[in-house]
Amino acid sequence: MVAGSCQDKKNKDVLKILRYKFVALSSGLIFYTMQVSKTVRKVTTHVLNEMKLKGEKIAMLTAYDYSMARIIDEAEIDVILVGDSASNVMAGYDTTLPITLDNMIYHAASVVRGVRRALVVVDLPFGTYQGDSKEALVSAIRIMKETGAAAVKLEGGEQVAESIERILTAGIPVMGHLGLTPQSIHKFGTYVVRAREEEEARRLMEDARILEKTGCFALVLEKIPARLAGEVTSTLKIPVIGIGAGPKTDGQVLVIHDMLGITQEFSPRFLRRYLNLYAEIKGAVQTYITDVRSQSFPNDKEQY
Ligand code: KIV
Repeated sequence: MVAGSCQDKKNKDVLKILRYKFVALSSGLIFYTMQVSKTVRKVTTHVLNEMKLKGEKIAMLTAYDYSMARIIDEAEIDVILVGDSASNVMAGYDTTLPITLDNMIYHAASVVRGVRRALVVVDLPFGTYQGDSKEALVSAIRIMKETGAAAVKLEGGEQVAESIERILTAGIPVMGHLGLTPQSIHKFGTYVVRAREEEEARRLMEDARILEKTGCFALVLEKIPARLAGEVTSTLKIPVIGIGAGPKTDGQVLVIHDMLGITQEFSPRFLRRYLNLYAEIKGAVQTYITDVRSQSFPNDKEQY
């Protein structure tokens, strides 16, 4: 009798544990499947809006070629930026100023061929949109027509609002970019943190409001104090993506060559390196050279 009730209690405990586990598992599953980014087959500007509304962080990276775009798209990155940082990491220039519209179109078309899911955004390069809104529209149309990308990005606030408005008339989504804007490096003089001073911070907030009002679907904030980035993010309804702008933005973006450790010389505080590919690639190439010189490559199986 006593042994029987003991067994009953044990059975009840096991059932209880199983029930808890089932509830925990199914609620985890429900949470997982309820995540906007997990349910969509194609990320659009509307998906990004929904992610902001639900408090889901947006992950964005740069890419400049088909092979890399394919890998990061299959990893389910939300947004791929064909950044004019291609001027630095692909072409070896000191600044982003020399890259041309034709260069950007070549990179962007290669990226789009490797992407199924991510939203592809392309930087309008220096000199193709400032000052002349008609030229801005022509540049943006060329990017959309010749690459198959879904949106363009450009740098600046009020001074480029007319260009943004014009591009939007053609139904082309525009992403803004404030804070450290590398195309203006010769005006700033250095790549230090922007908007530390009150006046510049006030101006940045005002520009952010103007960009939202003009119709930008999202905004990149580069290298500004985390507190200011948090304020901009909670003020705007559109998603705000940060780079060196702290944790309060709606998402993060990094240059792929930096986060994979291909670039060595660039080491700002905000950068987290996930790999040291520079050393990995160099080591692999050195091994290959040794194998060729020692005639251990190709071996019997590596020939016809
Ligand atoms: O060109 C670029 O890679 C960028 C990111 C740094 C946001 O604009």
